[in-house]
Amino acid sequence: MSRIEEALAKAAGMKPATQVLRTASSGYPGVPGNGNGQARPPMPEAVHASGLRLPEETMVVINEPLSPMAEEFRKLKEALVKMTKRERFDNLIAVTSATASEGKSVTSINLAASLAGEYDHTVLLIDADLRRPSVHKYLGLKSGKGLSDCLREGLDVGELLVKTQIGKLSVLPAGTPVANPVELFSSDTMRRLFLEMKSRYNDRYIIIDTPPVLPFAETRSIAGIADWTLLVVREGQPSLAQIQEAVEALDNKVLGVVYNAAQSHAGSSYYYYSSYSG
Ligand SMILES: Nc1ncnc2c1ncn2[C@@H]1O[C@H](COP(=O)(O)OP(=O)(O)OP(=O)(O)O)[C@@H](O)[C@H]1O
Ligand SMILES: [Mg+2]
Repeated sequence: MSRIEEALAKAAGMKPATQVLRTASSGYPGVPGNGNGQARPPMPEAVHASGLRLPEETMVVINEPLSPMAEEFRKLKEALVKMTKRERFDNLIAVTSATASEGKSVTSINLAASLAGEYDHTVLLIDADLRRPSVHKYLGLKSGKGLSDCLREGLDVGELLVKTQIGKLSVLPAGTPVANPVELFSSDTMRRLFLEMKSRYNDRYIIIDTPPVLPFAETRSIAGIADWTLLVVREGQPSLAQIQEAVEALDNKVLGVVYNAAQSHAGSSYYYYSSYSG
């Protein structure tokens, strides 16, 4: 069995959702509460303080911090922190998937929000999906200048960062639409820009939301510069061959697999996390 098959088998075999259902009331649409009459645990500080509610219901870390899905993001965050803060701090993390619409943006945002909700983690979230930029939409931000403008016009990243009301989370939006993102991302400018961000913001996580890796070449370029990638796999969507192809395309820089929208016994969506890098 390959490592990816092992990772997926392990993910499929885990039952965190069952435990979560018994220990936390949900409030998340479509997800039943615990039904065991236990009191709700106190709301996490950062989220409680913001009072923010985003339009998209899958923004669970902000909207429903006690839901099973938000709990899965906390586990993902903890695993990520453990694996990236060793001898050195691997702070540049790309989030991708083999095919489209597997949940990359939802994962990037919830993970970034989860990291930013923690006291000592400042987080920068970059929307590097210039084809279908969505971070600003999910977060209810205006689409202004952003990454593409830094790459094309040499604008300073620091000038274009948008502060959010979510902990210490700042966003670099995708920016002005461009005709051919591949060219932009294969340039030396792109390489320099990401490496500059990595060292300029060397005390914070930089989470990069990307296009799917199989259809679009720029994701390979981004993964080539990132310290690690997280591969989102939506249950029932990509074939095993596509997942394997994606792992190869990512140059074996896959830190973990996020198994998304797995159907629990209650018929609801959950995230499972499985470490891939061992
Ligand atoms: N676990 C989940 N449960 C329910 N809905 C989900 C889940 N994950 C993602 N979605 C929904 O699936 C859709 C696609 O999610 P998202 O935008 O994150 O995918 P994507 O991989 O970024 O897509 P694209 O390839 O277009 O960038 C959205 O409507 C999102 O709300
Ligand atoms: Mg997306």
